[in-house]
Amino acid sequence: MLPAPSRSYLEPSSMRRLIMAFSVASLTACASLPTTPQKLAFSPTADRGLTFAQQRCSGCHMVGLDETSATEGPRFRDLQMRYNRLSLENRFQEISRHGTGEMPPVALSSSDADDLIAYFETLDRRF
Ligand code: HEC
Repeated sequence: MLPAPSRSYLEPSSMRRLIMAFSVASLTACASLPTTPQKLAFSPTADRGLTFAQQRCSGCHMVGLDETSATEGPRFRDLQMRYNRLSLENRFQEISRHGTGEMPPVALSSSDADDLIAYFETLDRRF
């Protein structure tokens, strides 16, 4: 005889654990999706920027040109249209220290920021 299904399934704490597990799993899934067509000739700096963006930003932002990854934050290709190199650099410093709105601070060194900017610059050339 099988044991009766446990009632603990419906307890709020297990529900929370389930929801947590699910959101972690879906974040991980998003982060590991390929977000841009690879093998385009990027500079080494832009390559590092792409890798960094995939690892640190793609859980919340669409970092490439596809339509399938996370869209909690604005798409990077839209940011590329709104900011120039200097204003992007300033914005990265701000979000690194304070975050912005719903975005928590994500630490960026100045070389991370340079790499990201080089990558952002590749985003409006490939339409
Ligand atoms: C935990 C989710 C999360 C992560 C991780 C994240 N962001 Fe964000 N980001 C957001 C959200 C949400 C917003 C929109 C904030 C708002 O306006 O309320 C945002 C906004 C921004 C903005 C400002 C956009 C504007 O309109 O000025 C920039 C720039 C940005 N993110 C860059 C990055 C970079 C670069 C990374 C990776 C190093 C990153 N974000 C990682 C969630 C995230």
